[in-house]
Amino acid sequence: MKGAILLPSLLLLLLTLLTGVCPRRPEEKYVRAGEMVALQCPRYRGYDHGDGRLIWASHTTQEKDLTSDMSSAEQMEMGVLVHGRSLVILNASVNHHGNYSCSQGNASRKYWFKLMVYTTRTREYEEKTTYPMTCNTPESCTLTCPDVNIPAENIPDITTSGTIWHKKADSSLTASYFSSVKENDGGVYTCTRSYLYHGQIYNMTSTVKLEVQPEKKPKKLAEITSPRMNEVFPVDLGSTVVIDCQAVAYSEFDEVFWLMDRSFVTRDNSSPVFYNFTHERNAEETKLTASLVFRRVSEEDLAKTYSCKLESESGPSSFVTITLAQKSSSSFSLLLALSIVIIVMVIVLTVVVCVKFKMGNAVLQRNALASYSSFSDGKSYDAFLMSYKSETDAGLNEDDRKWLERVLEERFGYSLCRDILPGKAVEEAVLDCVQRSRMVVLVPSSSDPGPGAGMLKKIHAALVTQQTGLVFIKTEATEASRSGSLSEASQLFDKTGNCVTWRGKSSMSPSSSFWKDLQIYLPASRADKVMLLHPG
Ligand SMILES: *[C@@H]1O[C@H](CO)[C@@H](O)[C@H](O)[C@H]1NC(C)=O
Ligand SMILES: *[C@@H]1O[C@H](CO)[C@@H](O)[C@H](O)[C@H]1NC(C)=O
Ligand SMILES: *[C@@H]1O[C@H](CO)[C@@H](O)[C@H](O)[C@H]1NC(C)=O
Ligand SMILES: *[C@@H]1O[C@H](CO)[C@@H](O)[C@H](O)[C@H]1NC(C)=O
Ligand SMILES: *[C@@H]1O[C@H](CO)[C@@H](O)[C@H](O)[C@H]1NC(C)=O
Repeated sequence: MKGAILLPSLLLLLLTLLTGVCPRRPEEKYVRAGEMVALQCPRYRGYDHGDGRLIWASHTTQEKDLTSDMSSAEQMEMGVLVHGRSLVILNASVNHHGNYSCSQGNASRKYWFKLMVYTTRTREYEEKTTYPMTCNTPESCTLTCPDVNIPAENIPDITTSGTIWHKKADSSLTASYFSSVKENDGGVYTCTRSYLYHGQIYNMTSTVKLEVQPEKKPKKLAEITSPRMNEVFPVDLGSTVVIDCQAVAYSEFDEVFWLMDRSFVTRDNSSPVFYNFTHERNAEETKLTASLVFRRVSEEDLAKTYSCKLESESGPSSFVTITLAQKSSSSFSLLLALSIVIIVMVIVLTVVVCVKFKMGNAVLQRNALASYSSFSDGKSYDAFLMSYKSETDAGLNEDDRKWLERVLEERFGYSLCRDILPGKAVEEAVLDCVQRSRMVVLVPSSSDPGPGAGMLKKIHAALVTQQTGLVFIKTEATEASRSGSLSEASQLFDKTGNCVTWRGKSSMSPSSSFWKDLQIYLPASRADKVMLLHPG
């Protein structure tokens, strides 16, 4: 508001400066007849010779040196007052119309004024003496009386007695302050400053034209346009990454910058992570860009959060936070696919192997279970081999039986009850072996007549009471002659279900199905136990 009034003064000042340099147009002053006007001799080089006397001269109807030729009384009579660098005309009249000059010392150049005294309010006068002012609804507004041509404050005997305001075409006084100015407050105002000098009041009137503009458009706030809040940027490790933070601002002092885990990112572009900043101004707005640069993205960079902050002088500051995430590269996907294929193949292979060696596994599992229970069952032997009379000649001969015992003991590590010596205590010894063994293996014999029917019944009974298991080895012939006459042993034990078929020579190999089947029923062998206790 003050600027609007200051501007003409500044122009005058500039004019004054220019006129001070070369022979010049005088500084023009406008005053209405009956009003007070003050001329101030400028303190510029050329007019200010420190020691010389300041001389005011009027070049009106008659030339007059106002300082040397006139006494104070004469000055009073003329209605002028000279004090220091000021010349005050208390009651301007047409007689005062004309040129004035001031100079310091007789060697100095003269500074010129042209005083125009108006007796009527002409259009020219109005134009020259009206000062514009602008206020905005609904803000507060204070009318300011322009301080042009006013006397210096240090002049003795002149005292100011206030300023009053009138609105044009309204005789009543108005206040110079509007708490909330309205459009109809606009118009032409006059301010009258009153000065008291020797009991007389002298007036100075100025005109102010107030323009009230409609409400200012709400200020546009600066904002970050990209990236989005919590945006995740996919990156490749080791690559160079540039992330632009863009903002639209309306002040050239607004700024965007980057923070890394709440501490400032440097602008030093020799750092591994830095940012650079540019602003691009056009008519209405400023585009701000802060580019966050990673020379080579590292694992550590991925773990941090980055914030782009906008500092705005026109509004609150704002920020967005982003993170980096490793790109799932094509080689990585390939590796993943390959891994899946391998895993599937391993599963399939395992299933195939498992199915193929189901028996072996069953043995192992059974042995594993048995190994933890067999030590406390009170049995001394793993098995007791007992011959029975085979229906055919397909049974095991003496050599086969010895071979069977050797494989069980030496290869598989079973302990066999062999305390059967020929003699009359055989029956007792057999029952004792049945009791002390975990398993009774009934072996078809082509030569041994085996125990009689009575003994078999006793053994059958003993198996139940002594909790001894039974494996019944039968011959292929047994299966074939099911309808025919079966031995007593077959009749008694074939129904237990724990049957293993002896297939002659083909069953001799320890890897044959005969041995696998037999091991399912036998307790865990020592070899297995050793293996289980020391895997691998
Ligand atoms: C100024 O001068 C006019 C006539 O020249 C006179 O009528 C008026 O009263 C004077 N005003 C003052 C304040 O002396
Ligand atoms: C005032 O000075 C101007 C030139 O600057 C001149 O044209 C004019 O005649 C002068 N007026 C009087 C009254 O001396
Ligand atoms: C200028 O002033 C000095 C004294 O300040 C005086 O001696 C000299 O005569 C004056 N010159 C003229 C041309 O008036
Ligand atoms: C000075 O202004 C006041 C207030 O407007 C007025 O009452 C008074 O008559 C004026 N005096 C002169 C000499 O114009
Ligand atoms: C910021 O730095 C990066 C990397 O040095 C560069 O590519 C980019 O042009 C720079 N931007 C500006 C605006 O200087």
